[in-house]
Amino acid sequence: MDSYHIIGGNRIFGSHKLTGAKNGVLPILAASLVTGDVCTIHNSPDLLDVNTMLAILKELGCKIQREKDAIVVDSSQLTQTYIPKVLGKEMRSSVFLLGPMLTRCGVVEMSQPGGCAIGARPIDLHLDALRKMGAEIKEEDGSLVCKSTGLKGTTIRLDFPSVGATENIMMAALSAEGETHIVHPAKEPEIEDLQNFLNACGSCVEGAGTGEIVISGKKPLHGTDYKVIPDRIEAGTFLAAAAATKGELLLENAAPAQMASTLAKFREMGCSLKIEQDKIYLKAPNRLKAIREIKTLPYPGFPTDMQSQFLTLMALADGQSKMTETIFENRFKHIDSLRDMGAIIEICGCSAKVTGVDQLQGCRVEAKDLRGGAAMVIAGLAASDETIVENICHIDRGYDKFEVALKNLGTKIERIQEDERK
Ligand code: EPZ
Repeated sequence: MDSYHIIGGNRIFGSHKLTGAKNGVLPILAASLVTGDVCTIHNSPDLLDVNTMLAILKELGCKIQREKDAIVVDSSQLTQTYIPKVLGKEMRSSVFLLGPMLTRCGVVEMSQPGGCAIGARPIDLHLDALRKMGAEIKEEDGSLVCKSTGLKGTTIRLDFPSVGATENIMMAALSAEGETHIVHPAKEPEIEDLQNFLNACGSCVEGAGTGEIVISGKKPLHGTDYKVIPDRIEAGTFLAAAAATKGELLLENAAPAQMASTLAKFREMGCSLKIEQDKIYLKAPNRLKAIREIKTLPYPGFPTDMQSQFLTLMALADGQSKMTETIFENRFKHIDSLRDMGAIIEICGCSAKVTGVDQLQGCRVEAKDLRGGAAMVIAGLAASDETIVENICHIDRGYDKFEVALKNLGTKIERIQEDERK
């Protein structure tokens, strides 16, 4: 597997144009197959997970074309309803195909989804909701067979505002008789993006971002041209790299209004921020301030996908900080690597108590999941001497040419291909 070789100690300086949101484009690509028409999705990032989703859509019979940052999906001829295990296992987002396939074909067979090993990541909320809408779902030795002769609109009250379950119910409800009400849905910006895409295809979905989403079923659907929202987690990750390296960064194509809780924490740690429409400018302090506690919460709370990156910042801050992860039960896997670099971190249950140090020491570490891997790159950029981050395939799943962008911002980072190292 490829690795990054990083020579730390260089400040991030310059500007970076954000790409489209990974967690926005993935459900929208899955949703495009409900139209049986041609959808063009603009501002699509070039990521491993996007390519895996496109491979699945192709397997199902869709014709796919990529024209720079636009992906054209023609789903007029679906030829199968089985998602190959080798693809379904690659990422969590394969689960987003349950809803669209039930809507389009009334049947879908797939393995349990894959994705970052940051917890058990069950799909009980997805399956309970689909069963409540009338789907017949058989789970046998790791695979799922879902069938429906016609879904019925109903009220689904989610015990937890699951992003994926909310998206799956929205897409299954398109073919359901009557209205479907999702109470206590996820409110992430990507949910609103999916609602806007579905309505551009002729659906009638309302309430994304609020405490109840209402979908009116059986509307005639058609293809559309759609532009995905910017990636707020890519934005936060680059800002964290600037903060860690005492740098200055201008982000373009940003959506600052979707990042309020994250930007507030950068300010609390001593960064100065200037916000304009689609621009965010950050200037880091000479030493980051410790932060009493950050708790990850469902949107609009502090995003769990920024937890790892901020742990790296806490490891460099002046004083004691605390990070509490409330969304996933196993999302502290990068702490061992941070400790190898000299960080002082004590884990107590779902919290990590961090005593900041002046300097981290470069060493050989490995990426164990997408955001933990990005956090190790940030640590390497800030550390003295050389850091090698191995298994960066995890990072490639969610960042588009990460090292190219970081190099353009004044840092020393090289991708070493697996065979080059032999
Ligand atoms: C989405 O995952 C994102 N992935 C994740 O981003 C993100 O961390 C997460 O939402 C939370 O914001 C995509 O959109 C592709 P959830 P998802 O369902 O849908 C539990 C990244 O780094 N749960 O909101 O899987 C679950 O175990 C990735 O870009 C159930 O118990 O997240 C977790 O503890 C990582 N049963 C919590 O809910 C279910 O049926 C949140 O999960 C579903 C979820």
